[in-house]
Amino acid sequence: MLSVVGLEAGYAMLPVLFNVSLNVFPGEIVAVLGSNGVGKSTLINHVVGMYRPNAGRVLFDGEDITQEKADAIVGRGLIQVPEGRRIFPNLSVQENLTLGAYRRGGKNIVANIERVYRYFPKLKLRHEQLAGTLSGGEQQMLAIGRGLMSEPKMIMFDEPSLGLSPLLVAEMFELFSRLRKDGLTILLVEQNLAQSLEIADRAYVLENGRNAISGTAKELLDSADVRKAYLGM
Ligand SMILES: Nc1ncnc2c1ncn2[C@@H]1O[C@H](COP(=O)(O)OP(=O)(O)OP(=O)(O)O)[C@@H](O)[C@H]1O
Ligand SMILES: [Mg+2]
Repeated sequence: MLSVVGLEAGYAMLPVLFNVSLNVFPGEIVAVLGSNGVGKSTLINHVVGMYRPNAGRVLFDGEDITQEKADAIVGRGLIQVPEGRRIFPNLSVQENLTLGAYRRGGKNIVANIERVYRYFPKLKLRHEQLAGTLSGGEQQMLAIGRGLMSEPKMIMFDEPSLGLSPLLVAEMFELFSRLRKDGLTILLVEQNLAQSLEIADRAYVLENGRNAISGTAKELLDSADVRKAYLGM
């Protein structure tokens, strides 16, 4: 569904990504893992057309989207839930959700809001509350819900576990498994290797802007290198 081929990218003269490649097949949860600053957000920000790569290609649904504008990519159903949530604090929960359907999904707003509330009953209870007054975990739910409002074919979560308690992370990741069961393809960017590998089918570990290790989640969990470097075992 998504192929990144030999991506080279950076900001101004500073290179960040070197020949990065990955594939996501329909119905998979694929994790992109790595420590602070290795280029995970840079990778997905380039995939969604926020920046242009210096070299390499991005294919979605078999079509080359490397030079496409961000809103056209949203129109195709490739949706990013950005790091740090970026909700509108002075709008209500429901208004934030409605804005999620701005570029795509506008015909089914009512049904899709109900669907988001089924995934997140807490948001329904608080539908009139200003988003800026939600707890951190609730804001993350809202950011995910807003992404779902655009009827994604594939959704990319950038560090959804950031700042959440282990229990909330577990709940959030369980939801991702449910979304996958309901037909969504997911790319999960995370520093949290242990919990990500529990729900992912496959994973890519980036180091210093390069592909380092990749394989099935089980292969990575069994790998001595991964266990030593990332899982402290
Ligand atoms: N808009 C930008 N302009 C200039 N440099 C940037 C920009 N965004 C990121 N960088 C730099 O690119 C490098 C990779 O950053 P990136 O945000 O992709 O890392 P990350 O893997 O997502 O890290 P984290 O896990 O901390 O979010 C960093 O050195 C960062 O300072
Ligand atoms: Mg990041």
